[in-house]
Amino acid sequence: MIVDGALTESITHPTFEILNVALNVCANLLISMNVKSYKKLIAKQLNQDFKSAVEIVEIPFTQPTANELLIQNKFAGVNGGFDTLLCRGDVPYVNLIPPFDLGVEAVGKVVAMGENVKNFQIGDAVITTARGGGYREYQLIDANLAVKAQEATPELLTLMPTGISALVALEQVGEMKSNEVVLVTAAAGGTGHIAVQLAKLAGNHVIGTCSSEAKADLLRELGCDRIINYRTENLNQVLKQEYPNGINLIFECVGKAVFDTCVDNLAVRGRLVVVGFISEYAKELEQITQPRIYHQLFWKAASVRGFLMPHYKEYMAEGRDRLLNLFYTDKLKVAVDPKQFQGIESIPNAVEYLLSGQNCGKVVVRF
Ligand SMILES: NC(=O)c1ccc[n+]([C@@H]2O[C@H](COP(=O)([O-])OP(=O)(O)OC[C@H]3O[C@@H](n4cnc5c(N)ncnc54)[C@H](OP(=O)(O)O)[C@@H]3O)[C@@H](O)[C@H]2O)c1
Repeated sequence: MIVDGALTESITHPTFEILNVALNVCANLLISMNVKSYKKLIAKQLNQDFKSAVEIVEIPFTQPTANELLIQNKFAGVNGGFDTLLCRGDVPYVNLIPPFDLGVEAVGKVVAMGENVKNFQIGDAVITTARGGGYREYQLIDANLAVKAQEATPELLTLMPTGISALVALEQVGEMKSNEVVLVTAAAGGTGHIAVQLAKLAGNHVIGTCSSEAKADLLRELGCDRIINYRTENLNQVLKQEYPNGINLIFECVGKAVFDTCVDNLAVRGRLVVVGFISEYAKELEQITQPRIYHQLFWKAASVRGFLMPHYKEYMAEGRDRLLNLFYTDKLKVAVDPKQFQGIESIPNAVEYLLSGQNCGKVVVRF
């Protein structure tokens, strides 16, 4: 814990002198600010409703162990769907029992580190993607799990892990090619707007769905070839009329009737990647009784494939490096939703906002 002086305790070996100075500066800063504890958001119980499941708790600082960084989170990415499902106990591959920490990706600054950490300095900007590491003011993390960034900006949250998910889903699961027709649903969202650009960069004709003119403007800027505002146009009609040969690759985020329409409009040997089903997250899952979809798939030799990033971990590092490179060389535009959410207290509203479908780009909370 950072009680007065605890972090300033000296390490005597001369090679640690610089580190000591840095640690002391950081610890003194925290102490002079009288910061002895910080806030985080936890799930205190499983509940259908995110707001009823969560609680803000104040916890004391703990010192970084030898290989750890203490990071002050500046921004955290909001994953309203995952957060809600987690708090309902509906994420089978983790199956967490409350209380558990929430949030995943964060961008912040290194404020202290253990004596074995060599590759970081106090003040370095870093991105982290550890489950439980996002919705908190500070986090301790193994230095190997933090990625250095040029600056601590919220834009980075569109890339890790959101953008990586888009890349891996398209390439590894969707077997993305060139000169095909690719459809992205929820195209102006955090994940979708990166998927649109990656599909364009690969040389495809890209269709994107969205629900407002502001979102359509963003998609136009990103080079989307056919924008379908599903509030003013009928998705099924447009696809049937304008794409009679069907869609080769579908990056499907929405679920329910949108999923059914997508399956119905797959091309011969088309691939639909189930990236999510956000239309079901805010409510109980819909129970359906309808013909089995193998009738629709078989005659076209089409396929529906599930995607879940944690099952494709081996592609993360390469995907991250490629996306950061595209971003830093201005080949990839990123959109952060302009609505401001400030502090741990604002996270439940940010989750609700995302699930209401209003956002354009990645939803971010600032600390
Ligand atoms: N499988 C994975 O590993 C993985 C990883 C990351 C994200 N995802 C999935 O990717 C999808 C997008 O996630 P995100 O966090 O980036 O969110 P997001 O796309 O930034 O926001 C959600 C968007 O979904 C659209 N939407 C369409 N119908 C909706 C409905 N009935 N209710 C609410 N929203 C609706 C809304 O835009 P429009 O109405 O304009 O379409 C809304 O802005 C989610 O399904 C998420 O679970 C999956």
